[in-house]
Amino acid sequence: MAAPNDTPTAGERGQDGQAHPPLHVAIVMDGNGRWAKRRGLPRTLGHRAGVEALKRIVEAAPKLNIKWLTVFGFSTENWSRPAAEVAELMALPKRYFETDLARLEREGVRVGVIGSRQGLSRDLVKICDEAERRTVGNDAFFLTVAFNYGGKADIVDAARRFAEDVAAGQAEPGDITEARFASLLSTGGAPDPDVIIRPSGEQRLSNFMLWQAAYAEFVFQDVLWPDYSAHHLEAALAEFYTRNRRYGAVVADDALATG
Ligand code: IPE
Ligand code: MG
Repeated sequence: MAAPNDTPTAGERGQDGQAHPPLHVAIVMDGNGRWAKRRGLPRTLGHRAGVEALKRIVEAAPKLNIKWLTVFGFSTENWSRPAAEVAELMALPKRYFETDLARLEREGVRVGVIGSRQGLSRDLVKICDEAERRTVGNDAFFLTVAFNYGGKADIVDAARRFAEDVAAGQAEPGDITEARFASLLSTGGAPDPDVIIRPSGEQRLSNFMLWQAAYAEFVFQDVLWPDYSAHHLEAALAEFYTRNRRYGAVVADDALATG
């Protein structure tokens, strides 16, 4: 996926004093199980309610000028859950794309599914491939679903790809740069996330976009994912706008200060 290169840096204030909206929002969709438990329901129903929340947020995000949305749907560690729950989680992409792919396609959304296809059923691989294929020409909004994804595995895969290029005589070890390495990650040419949101009260990254998170702002919210609404997304953006992103530098006024 190629990133548009004429877009403003998210979070920076323009001449009008207004912060540019984040280009790329990433969300760790968390809390489905607790949501179900509180209602005395099986966890599987929490995951189904989570898909409804995803639909709401995919609809809300473009209206908030978000251009890229990446959601964590299934981690490489989630295989250790009970078989029945894994089976339910595996059924979620189908549940989502069956009802929504045609609309996404029509509305110019480009869908990407990152993570390993290994271990997924043939049916599921087909569904993910089809979602990507049918939306490959779209660029109004970029929705990436991280499924069977792990940040460490993403980095190792990129390292392997570069090593293979070297072995094939297509690169020298010294050719590696941050930009080249980033292009070998599953997120390819996408901009790094400006903000990573995790609802449900947990405050960790859980192996999500490790490389890409280098300068992301983190927003943790005390709401369970199935209850997540446009209003929560707006609140997360409001929090993001209060942050002072310096990328390791100092702000101009502080650099001039003597006292
Ligand atoms: C997130 O909800 C869904 C996935 C892991 C894909 P959880 O299932 O982690 O819900 P909690 O954390 O147990 O409440
Ligand atoms: Mg969880």
